Amino acid sequence: MKKIALIYGPVKGSTERVAIKIANEIGNENIDLLPVKDVAENKIMEYDKIIFGIATIGKDTWDLHHPNTDWDDFLPKLRTMNLQGKTVAMFGLGDNIKYASLFVDALGVLGKEVLEIGGKIIGQVSTDNYDFQESQAIIDGKFIGLPINEDHESHLTDERIKNWVAQIKPEFGL
Ligand SMILES: Cc1cc2nc3c(=O)[nH]c(=O)nc-3n(C[C@H](O)[C@H](O)[C@H](O)COP(=O)(O)O)c2cc1C
Repeated sequence: MKKIALIYGPVKGSTERVAIKIANEIGNENIDLLPVKDVAENKIMEYDKIIFGIATIGKDTWDLHHPNTDWDDFLPKLRTMNLQGKTVAMFGLGDNIKYASLFVDALGVLGKEVLEIGGKIIGQVSTDNYDFQESQAIIDGKFIGLPINEDHESHLTDERIKNWVAQIKPEFGL
């Protein structure tokens, strides 16, 4: 069984904590946990199944000017890749109170990049149980991946992860 690459950033905060929880829930033997800031070029091409984890840290996340996202170096590499034939699931960290109109936006921006380069995205999530105003992560009426809100809804995180992992596992052939 080929492993799933779980590529995430930033490290040392809630994104990493959630990445570890998701790996535990899927089964660590099936996962390679890879901080995005350390992923070597072309490493991603070794995998057919990928999970991306990203935090939204301001609107500059994708302008390559924000120093804290860990994604800045990886993004230009991603844009040159072809993800056709690869299955991708995504989760995103955000804050629905302070950033109600920008909720988990980076998840949406990343999702659109992945679609652009041919990736097949699984693990879409209904907006029903989330309270926010606007989000770029809504594509075709659903969140393109799993939003996690450690700032204000951390009590829901474990259940959200459990449900989402149950949803994506069969699609990853597990
Ligand atoms: C400077 C800054 C900007 C942020 N901007 C957004 C935002 O636009 N949308 C959002 O949903 N959350 C936003 N957040 C909340 C973070 O996404 C959230 O706190 C996340 O859990 C941080 O992940 P980390 O602990 O791995 O760094 C922002 C947080 C910071 C510190």
